[in-house]
Amino acid sequence: MVVVLLGPPGVGKGTQAARLTADIVAEHVSTGDLLRAARRDGTTLGKEAQDFMDAGEYVPDDLILAMVREHFSGISADAHVLLDGFPRTTAQAIGLDTSLESIERQVDVVVVFEAPQEILVRRLSGRRNCPDCGAIYNTCSSPPATEGVCDRCSGALVHRSDDEPSTVRRRLELYQEQTAPLVSFYEQHGARLERVQADQPVDDVYRDFASAVGVAR
Ligand code: AP5
Repeated sequence: MVVVLLGPPGVGKGTQAARLTADIVAEHVSTGDLLRAARRDGTTLGKEAQDFMDAGEYVPDDLILAMVREHFSGISADAHVLLDGFPRTTAQAIGLDTSLESIERQVDVVVVFEAPQEILVRRLSGRRNCPDCGAIYNTCSSPPATEGVCDRCSGALVHRSDDEPSTVRRRLELYQEQTAPLVSFYEQHGARLERVQADQPVDDVYRDFASAVGVAR
């Protein structure tokens, strides 16, 4: 099964993908996480992506497609794959289809997570991430047991620099301009599309998400 998770910044794609990955054996492919890892490792890609990410802009399609193709080459051809934050543009969606066709696979379901903008802004201002193990927290809805410390690996939690309000505004605009049109793209291409109301508690969103992708819990 190949699942695309679509939805604006802060809607909970990463939180829900991590939950599903814990319940089924699946590859969670987050292009945001791959880019942040490339930045931490100081790779050429990381350096090229840095200014775009800090400004809340999209990293160019050719860099993203090359990164994803390379990552896919290390994934078993029959693995369940959860695509989080990719594709984000029509060019990326077409590139994804081409890559999947070459291994006789396709996008099986597109899940669109939806929540009002004021909730997204609030969630992002309270988000804390663990750069070491990838765990996601929120100072309001899911704080760690000890402030600033990851429950899972004791790493130091960070507030992502692109979660500053002015950058968040740009990321939300860009989502509407470039990524929201992918809903029509997938509708026109006959993909199974499921909408999940994401302004509910995490467990309730997960119940609806698991049901949308047909995973029994
Ligand atoms: P990326 O890291 O992918 O960011 P994003 O898509 O903007 O999504 P977020 O990670 O901000 O949010 P999320 O939906 O995963 O929410 P989360 O689960 O964390 O990309 C970062 C940057 O990289 C981009 O801006 C771009 O520059 C570049 N990039 C990445 N991919 C690219 C691509 N394909 N093309 C071009 N450029 C690319 O949850 C948010 C918060 O809410 C957390 O604190 C969480 O605890 C909390 N929360 C979650 N669910 C709930 C709930 N139900 N109730 C209460 N709180 C909740």
